[in-house]
Amino acid sequence: MPIFDRLREKVKIVYKKLNKKGLKRHNQFNGMVYAEFSDVPSELIINGYASDKYAEYFFRRAELYSKETFQDISIAKLIVLINLLSSMSKIEVLDYGGSVGQVFWGVEKYLSSPNNVKWNVLDVAELVSIAKEKYKSNSTLSFYTDVKKINKIDILFFRQALQFFENYQEALKETINSFQPKVLYFCGVTAGQNKEYKTLLCMEGNKGLPVIIFNEEELIEFVKSIGFIMLEKFNENARIDLSNFKSLDYQLDSNGDNFTKGYIFIRKDNRQDLL
Ligand SMILES: C[S@@+](CC[C@H](N)C(=O)[O-])C[C@H]1O[C@@H](n2cnc3c(N)ncnc32)[C@H](O)[C@@H]1O
Repeated sequence: MPIFDRLREKVKIVYKKLNKKGLKRHNQFNGMVYAEFSDVPSELIINGYASDKYAEYFFRRAELYSKETFQDISIAKLIVLINLLSSMSKIEVLDYGGSVGQVFWGVEKYLSSPNNVKWNVLDVAELVSIAKEKYKSNSTLSFYTDVKKINKIDILFFRQALQFFENYQEALKETINSFQPKVLYFCGVTAGQNKEYKTLLCMEGNKGLPVIIFNEEELIEFVKSIGFIMLEKFNENARIDLSNFKSLDYQLDSNGDNFTKGYIFIRKDNRQDLL
């Protein structure tokens, strides 16, 4: 058995022993399946990421990403695309649900034409006002709460965010119709062979935020139906823990790996310009 599989098996055994001793690990999701976000009992829902505590957490990520340890496969591919598109002309990225812009700091150091790249973040008002204050002198990095206030989007990017938008189809259609981005880039997506369902991401004990666990095929078909071609899909090196969903119907991957996914799409009528 390869070394990583052996290690994984060992970790599972240790977890099982801990659980028997009553030292239960925290569930990542609450194990419930909901038809709509509004079906989640309101007492289980927290006020999103809109607090100083989460802003602090995201700023710490920004600092870490600016220095080291962030070059996962999704970001490496994103950097290649940005460098390709920005080599001849100015481009703008919209980091949708990008909180305080932490991903920018992992990308910035690798930009080959930094003067040609503007990074816009869209998030909730509380996080945006904290981030604006901190980065007010940075002309490359801007923050918005309203997509209509943005001038241009060449790359529409979601990282670990798409699943928080129950009406993601409307949001995507609206943004795409208004801005005609060349590239749609989704990563950290909770999607797989499962039928689409909604559940609760546990963030503070048994409280948290509703999220979508997508059916991958339906997600891809939807994006194709709004004028895009898929360049690539890939498993990331991160997993989610769905072990408290007993049926295989709720697992992303048939072997229970449950890797988060990345998807890169380009606009159909833009293929020649891009490549
Ligand atoms: C898990 S965090 C991901 C942050 C960042 N994209 C990253 O990869 O590190 C999800 C983000 O989506 C944002 N978000 C969720 N619902 C939102 C909404 N309706 N409008 C704007 N942002 C939202 C949250 O505030 C949060 O910053």
